[in-house]
Formats: sequence, structure tokens, C-alpha cells
Amino acid sequence: MALSPAIHAQAAELRAAIEQHNHNYYVLDNPAVPDAEYDRLFRELQALELAHPELVTLDSPTQRVGASPLAEFAEVRHATPMLSLNNAFDEEEVEAFDRRVREALGTDTVEYATEPKFDGLAISLVYEKGLLVSGATRGDGSTGEDVTANLRTVRAIPLRLRGEQIPARFEVRGEVLMFKADFERMNENQRQREEKTFANPRNAAAGSLRQLDPRITATRPLSFFAYGTDAAASGKYTRHSETLDVLAKWGFPVTKERRVASGLAGLLDYFRGIGERRAQLPFDIDGVVYKVDLLAAQNTLGFVSRAPRFALAHKFPAEEALTVVEAIDIQVGRTGTLTPVARLAPVSVGGVTVTNATLHNEDEIRRKDVWVGDTVVVRRAGDVIPEVVRVIVEKRPPSAQPFVMPEKCPVCASATRKAEDEAATRCSAGLYCPAQRKQALLHFASRRALDIEGLGEKLVEQVVERELVRTPADIYRLSVETLAGLERMAEKSAANLLEAIEKSKQTTLARFVYALGIRNVGESTAQDLARYFGNIDAIANANAEGLQQVPDVGPVVAQSIAGFFAEPHNRAVVDELMNAGVCFAEAAQREVNTAGPVYGKTFVLTGAMPTLSRDEATQRIRDCGGKVTGSVSKKTDYVVAGADPGSKQEKALELGIAILDEAGLLKLLQQSGGS
Ligand code: IVH
Repeated sequence: MALSPAIHAQAAELRAAIEQHNHNYYVLDNPAVPDAEYDRLFRELQALELAHPELVTLDSPTQRVGASPLAEFAEVRHATPMLSLNNAFDEEEVEAFDRRVREALGTDTVEYATEPKFDGLAISLVYEKGLLVSGATRGDGSTGEDVTANLRTVRAIPLRLRGEQIPARFEVRGEVLMFKADFERMNENQRQREEKTFANPRNAAAGSLRQLDPRITATRPLSFFAYGTDAAASGKYTRHSETLDVLAKWGFPVTKERRVASGLAGLLDYFRGIGERRAQLPFDIDGVVYKVDLLAAQNTLGFVSRAPRFALAHKFPAEEALTVVEAIDIQVGRTGTLTPVARLAPVSVGGVTVTNATLHNEDEIRRKDVWVGDTVVVRRAGDVIPEVVRVIVEKRPPSAQPFVMPEKCPVCASATRKAEDEAATRCSAGLYCPAQRKQALLHFASRRALDIEGLGEKLVEQVVERELVRTPADIYRLSVETLAGLERMAEKSAANLLEAIEKSKQTTLARFVYALGIRNVGESTAQDLARYFGNIDAIANANAEGLQQVPDVGPVVAQSIAGFFAEPHNRAVVDELMNAGVCFAEAAQREVNTAGPVYGKTFVLTGAMPTLSRDEATQRIRDCGGKVTGSVSKKTDYVVAGADPGSKQEKALELGIAILDEAGLLKLLQQSGGS
């Protein structure tokens, strides 16, 4: 029995609505409905097609779920070869390109279409009568693989075109890629299911497109941008940029990141601009592409061997490079951690010369199997610290030496130790080790510790080397005379420094405990300790068990505190500091009202309060024996919400946690006897 026209109409309507949402999402970058609504329409169409299989058309969005697996990909011969682009790696090469173009065209200034160089894989799509009929990879440029069934699953690729003056048959070229956020989500999924993860979005896109089972491709979040078409040759259009506008009208996603730039200056300006925003772009790019915008001029310029003379890829410097590990040195940190650092033969990575890369610790070196003499891949992405990605083991010379963690500290020659459950190896000498001493002094003087302005790296280096300062207590013995002999220490700066040192004596117990640099004791633990014990002697005399009475102090932290004060030289330093006049503000020593409503409660602050600053509110809550943490959990007692509180307030509502405004907080503080 023939289906009623009404059912046909219903199916057509659903298809059109779904494709419109796809278009809004991928082409206009402006989704109009929530995902759930899209899914609802989709399921409705699926149900209709299931009931009436004769309704299924090749361009139905339901066909994007993937056809049956193939035994192998068929070959497709490209109507015109898919060429490559000539590359430029610096401004001189771009200048030379622009000069050649100007000379060939006999014009002063050339207008260029500028586009991102997408880091995905090139494909070709053929449309007949507005319907996608074939899709292929680039292959060797002449012959590619028929991946039509896979490309049909990519929602960004239109199955049926819209708009006017669509040629009866034409080809579109562009790039299949994966957005960074989609890539992260997909990898996380793969990881959870213990399936293969991908190194980067490009590999993920390539691996997903080249699946023989289109149903797998359908589950991968692939996307697509068009960057060219043979419809440009119809004579209807004047400029390349215009043909991209037309492709967008027909339903192809075309990037918004394109411009028309004038002359060399315009090209370099675009390159710099997009380079600055590269990390923020939702997809990876490895450079930009410049194309002479006037199509007639493109024809005049033509091709040379396998690349157009009218276009150029201006590449970003590679973020990975090969170099040789010349040595592995050891750096000693504040708490004695020995960090191996690879000294590299200088190499340019991401536009910067790299000579060192951290190797983190012994386990990491074993895992990566780095030897001195090895050729390694180093990577530096954006502002990230350079790292050794992997060793090219085939290039290991016979003279290469495996790394051995030294048994003696390279700075002070004391024994090193590695705890079984820790990755780090440490120097055992504590503050006797000059390397640790320098770091410890810098920490002591840092802003959130005793806050001694002017006591920076250069100065600490000098006073330690000259043995003017061995422990933090020695800082308080410095005089204008001792400082005067140091480099870059005029009388004025010496006076300023001494003033800052004097000022630092007025501190709080919490800052003081933090400044001591006890391992595992950060700012927040120091505050807990100060609040609980109220004075330094009580902390120094507490045993591990007593220390664990403090909220959030577990056995490991308790052990490092007790261990620190078990060392007579650490106690001596504390005594000397107190004798030098270091003293604690009232707040830390004041009797806390343990019966008040704030004592022992955990607060989360969110949004701007009308009068109290975040720091002030935090301090006052702490003074009354309360805690302030950053995120809302079941352990939170109160959320204090100011203006624009955001997700923390929502979370509080969800968990049924009391929400206060500033007035409510002030009342609690008052009842707790706080200021
Ligand atoms: S136009 C004649 N435009 O770069 C070649 N290519 O080396 C015309 N690519 O494999 C290519 N973004 O996949 C063009 N905006 C863009 C591009 C782009 C990336 C890739 C393309 C090709 C390679 C050319």
C-alpha cells in the first residue's frame, strides 16, 4: 500500500528540521535548540523510518549512524589532482612569495585571502544535484580512498545542499578534523573503556576517518571545514573569498577565522594575530594559508610542479624537535628534592632555543629510558616548560651512558635517600645543604611567608655563597656594613632591605610556621596548626599523635612536623628567630571562642560581598576558629554568597547547605566573639 502524502511530508519536515539544526550548529556556529530537542526529533524520524522503510533516503540524517563495514576502501581517482602547498617558515620567505606574485601580476599591492591552516586531513567531496555522492581522502594526490560511507556520518558535512545556483555536479575540498574539546572528551571515554587513545586531535581525526566500519566513525566527534571548490572555475565568481561565502550559503562550514589581507603587511598582521590566539582556538592549526584572492590572478599565476604559485602555507615553528642529551645534571630544591635536568644540544623548538628540559625524577627517566648521549624528541607547546617526549632508541650511540641517581648530594655531598612510596630522591642534609639553604631562605622571605621585600634570588645567592647567612635567623643579623660589600647593593638599597627585614618581624604565627618550610606544611596547614596550638612552643613540643588532633593533619604531615622539630638545629633556628624579635600579632594568639557558631565550621565564599573583601572575610572566619575552602562539598557547613555567586551557590542548594549573605556571616562572627 502506498504511503499517504501526509507521512511523506512528515518525514521530509523532520529531515529538514534536523538538517537545519545541524546547519545552525556547524555552519552558523549558533545552535538554536538544546541537544535534547535535537535527539527527540532524530528519534522521531528514526521511528517513522523504521515503521516505513521506504521513507529512508540517502540524505536522511538517520543515515549518519553508519553503514555496514567494508572489506577495504575502494580507490577514487581525483578529477583534478589534490596538490600540496609550498611552505614558508619565516617572514623573508613570505616577502619573497609576495614579491614573486606582484612581479608576475605586474601590480603594486595584492589582495590575499588568508585562512587558518587546519591540522586535520584533506578530503574531497562530490555533489550531484545537491546531494553528496562521493567523498575521498587525498591519498597520493591523484588517487585517494573512497570514504563516502564514513563521511556521511560527519554531521558537519551536508548530505543535501541548500540555496541557489548550485552546480549540477561539483567538488568541494576541505579538512576533516576534531575540535580540541571533543578530542579530550573522546580520549577520556576511550580511556574509561580501556580502548585506544590518540596522541593529538589530528591523529584522532585520521584514525577515525580511516575506519572500515562506518559505525565506529559515527561515534567519533569529527568535524569539517571547506576551503575550496572547483565551482570557483564556473566564471560566476571573481574572488576566492567570495566562493567561500557561497559555500557557506550552500551549507558548508567555512571558518570565521578568515580575512582578506592587503599586501605583505596584511599577511604578517594576520599571521601574528592568529598566532597569539592559537591556544584559544577550538581546533588545532599548524600555520596559515595565503591565497591570491582574485581568481583571474590565480589563473595567471598557475601551478609549478605540485603546488600552486598563487598560494603559500606560512607554518608556525614546529613544537617538537630532535636533539641530543649532552648531560643529565641534578638540581637540589628547597626540601632537598634532587631533580634531574637534561642538558640538551641547543635546538630551536616552537621558535625558542631550548637547552634544558626537566626529567622530573628517577622513575620518569627509567620510564622514558633516557641515557646521556641519546637523541630525543623535545617538545615545547606555547609557554609550557620544554620536556623530553621520547627517546629515539635506534640512534643511541655505543658511548651512551645510562643515568644513575647520585648517592651523594651534588651540592653538599651528604647522603641522598629515596623513600619507597615516593618518586623523589632527596638530600638528607636539610639546611646544612647550601642549595636547600638558598631555596629555604627564598621561601622564608617570600610574600606569603615573612614577606621580606627585596630579598630575592640574586641577593640570597650572594649572602649564602659568602656565608653571611646560613639560616633564616642570620637574616636578622645583617647590617649596612655587611650588605655594602655585595654586588648591586648601594647604601640606599641596603637601608631599604634592612627596613623590610625589620618590618617582617611583626608577623603571624601561621605565616611563621609556613615560612619554616617544613615539608608537607603549606599555608593552609600552617594556619590550622597556628589556630589549634596558638603558640610556637606548643607546636614544636607536640608529638605525632598530638599533631594529628589538628583537623586535616594526617600521619604523613604529622611525621614531617615532628621530624622537623626533632632536629636540634631547627629548634635552635626557631629560638634565634624569636630572640631576634620576631613576634606574632594578637589574632593568632587570641583565645578562640570554641563555643561560638563559627568554630570548627567550614565555609565557602563565592561572589562579591558588599563591604568585606574575600581576604578580610577569610581572616575573620579563621580568627573565630572556622575554615575557608575553595569548593562546595558535603563537608561544607556554610556558603557565603555575594553578588553573582554562580555555580557554588547552585551546588549548595543541591546539597542542602546553608547559604548566608554578608549580614548573616557578620552575625555569626559577632556571636563567635570575632571582630
Ligand atoms: S588549500 C593546492 N587551504 O594543507 C592545495 N589547504 O599542503 C590547496 N590545508 O593537505 C589547499 N588548511 O589539507 C588549503 N585553509 C586551507 C588549508 C589547507 C589546511 C591542508 C590541506 C593540504 C595541505 C596542503
